[in-house]
Amino acid sequence: MSQLLEPAGAVDRRIFWDQKIYERELERIFARAWLFVAHESQLAEPGAFVTTYMGEDAVIVARGDSGAINVFLNSCPHRGNRVCFADSGKSRTFTCNYHGWAFGLDGALKKMPKMGLYKATPGFRTEDWGLKQARVETYKGLVFATFAEDAPTLAAYLGDFRWYLDAVLDTDDSGTEFLPGGATRSVIACNWKFPADNFVGDIYHALWTHLGGSEPTLGRHGGVIVSNEGSYQVSVNGHGWEFNDSFLGNAATMGDRDLLRYMRSRQEAIAARLGEFRMTMWGSVASATVFPNFSFLPGYFTFRTFQPKGPTRTEIHAWTLVPKSMPEEIKDRFRRGSMRTFSPSGLLEMDDGENWEHSTSANAGFVTRNQKLCYQMAPEGTRTHAELPGEVTAGQLSDANQRAFYTRWAEFMDAERWADIPLSPTFEDRRAAE
Ligand code: FES
Ligand code: FE
Repeated sequence: MSQLLEPAGAVDRRIFWDQKIYERELERIFARAWLFVAHESQLAEPGAFVTTYMGEDAVIVARGDSGAINVFLNSCPHRGNRVCFADSGKSRTFTCNYHGWAFGLDGALKKMPKMGLYKATPGFRTEDWGLKQARVETYKGLVFATFAEDAPTLAAYLGDFRWYLDAVLDTDDSGTEFLPGGATRSVIACNWKFPADNFVGDIYHALWTHLGGSEPTLGRHGGVIVSNEGSYQVSVNGHGWEFNDSFLGNAATMGDRDLLRYMRSRQEAIAARLGEFRMTMWGSVASATVFPNFSFLPGYFTFRTFQPKGPTRTEIHAWTLVPKSMPEEIKDRFRRGSMRTFSPSGLLEMDDGENWEHSTSANAGFVTRNQKLCYQMAPEGTRTHAELPGEVTAGQLSDANQRAFYTRWAEFMDAERWADIPLSPTFEDRRAAE
């Protein structure tokens, strides 16, 4: 698949259109990568559950009686029916509508009507017919799962990207939560990689898509000043974050003075906890993607997954993440601010969606789909940085992170097994080697 990324900085359009490539993505990326499935705040007590997808595999994410979080397929092993239809809720068991097989909070088969007939069947064992379990690990409130038994740990998968994630996940001792009220869900006629690509490193589009070619500032509240001064793209293992050092650049576009006053009141404490550098990332002009399809925007604190539904269809699930300690009134302001900007009817999300749909549908023509796309804006090159982990590019106007994202995509698509996929050394690896 790496030939689809040649020559350097060119991407073959077929990866956004071809059904066979899409099927391979389901197998080699979505059945293999650590995928975001829930925030722990959605699973506050035993019995709490949400339903979501890992690729096109429907799954249930449930907190069991021991407090452990379990993730298992949402498809009955009897005739395949979907077991749970609710988006979220609280339950003791999950019972299939078709013949009444009932499963526990860990997916194990508990009982079924006429159980004696099965018990009288030679070789039948209930323990062989539970809902297939995924591996589950968490990082600071975010719950990830994978169906790959040979996957590395989540810590190795995220690698030193955790250091950057802490700029939104670890700003105080209280931890974070998804604002209650559930997710917004919308379906968009685009390939899942276009939104992931947009969030991993594309501030370039904001100048035209959202600002119509002008570069307005928002005065003393910060501003949407996009330049390569005081800005970066960083990537680790295909995860990427582009940002500037404005501290409030994204947050300022919501136009809410009370919200900005609150954020400024936190500035000193965050700098003391995470250092000056990561403090400036908290609400800055920025966007990020955790490979393959989990993205967020600092400042608006919208977190979302891009669920693949075929090569030309994507379902977006979005939540707002805030520190638990944030005053309720400010949380509500964030809820409204992120809805006004980044929700299905939000001003900025609608701009983006239209472009992603047409970037996908324009590939319908046979000749068109055999052309390349240009990812050649990387004026500064990529290098390592003395203090910042990962691959660091000075300047956020660049295709560096998108190139790293598609390089990662090709590594997953080409690898026969997890061990063939390279991982960058982590802080822990380096410490152990010293
Ligand atoms: Fe689920 Fe038969 S399909 S009980
Ligand atoms: Fe945008």
